[in-house]
Amino acid sequence: MFLIMEALLLTVFVMAEENRSIKLNSGFEMPVLGLGTWTLTGETCENAVYEALKSGYRLIDTARYYGNESEVGKAVARAIKEGICKREEIFVTTKLVPWTSTPEDDIDDSLQKLGLSYIDLCLLHQHGSASGDDAVYRAMCKAVKASKIRSIGISNFYTGKTVSHFINDFEIPPAVIQNENHLKYQNNTLRDWAAKKGIYIESYYPFGGRGHTKEHLENPTVLEIARAHGKTAAQIIVRWHLQAGYIAIPGSSNPDHIAENFDVWNFELTENEMKKLSSLDTGRRYENW
Ligand SMILES: NC(=O)c1ccc[n+]([C@@H]2O[C@H](COP(=O)([O-])OP(=O)(O)OC[C@H]3O[C@@H](n4cnc5c(N)ncnc54)[C@H](OP(=O)(O)O)[C@@H]3O)[C@@H](O)[C@H]2O)c1
Repeated sequence: MFLIMEALLLTVFVMAEENRSIKLNSGFEMPVLGLGTWTLTGETCENAVYEALKSGYRLIDTARYYGNESEVGKAVARAIKEGICKREEIFVTTKLVPWTSTPEDDIDDSLQKLGLSYIDLCLLHQHGSASGDDAVYRAMCKAVKASKIRSIGISNFYTGKTVSHFINDFEIPPAVIQNENHLKYQNNTLRDWAAKKGIYIESYYPFGGRGHTKEHLENPTVLEIARAHGKTAAQIIVRWHLQAGYIAIPGSSNPDHIAENFDVWNFELTENEMKKLSSLDTGRRYENW
């Protein structure tokens, strides 16, 4: 009996280990769960990223717009120096603003701020002018060829029609689309369309984003499922994102929350629980950009 239990536990563990990263269409592996750093600045940001890497996170999400790439870089350097992880195990995402006139210089500046010789994933942060978007995307393609960036993608593009431009008109298709995506706004249409093209959706605002987290973390359906598993609401929501096929990047500056949000590998939501959570979709985003 003990041996059977041990074998079962091992199977769950191995399954969980296998599911911690996915292979992008660029050929590179990307962790499916990471730390978001929007609104985190200075020491708060540095400590959060360092705590995340200590807790086992290997994906960190930043952006030029957040003004915290240097702090992310400092935390990464500290974790590597202390032997917590190696550079090649860490996956850093940054984003270029669409209104820049110097995207190539911006990439070099991000590399310098991050203290890295390559960026794992660089995204066009949001839609700007068509010519501006194209210039940024072209600069990212060029930087891939120069080995400054490994994978590229876009953010805040919600339809197959708008994404198609980047697949059809450039040398390198997006590997990832980072969008607002959570229990109350589930864009299954885009997810399923993108999957057929070999593109992953990364959920931002996995808990609804600041100002809306209560609606998610205190939702009765989420709490009922959390009780059934002896897990927290946040852990149930993270699990939902991962099992629904999304990459998720919950943001937090609280070391307890950071560790809690990553402790999701030892349980699985049932099909019925996934259905109940998916039924919370309202089809409405909080943001309009
Ligand atoms: N591409 C884009 O345009 C875009 C836009 C927005 C965000 N993003 C990215 O997506 C990331 C995630 O979005 P977000 O950080 O805005 O929103 P979020 O992850 O949905 O929610 C973050 C909020 O949840 C709280 N929280 C985290 N873990 C918790 C837990 N276990 N229990 C209770 N509360 C918890 C955090 O507070 P504490 O600090 O107290 O834990 C914070 O207030 C961002 O950080 C950013 O990297 C991208």
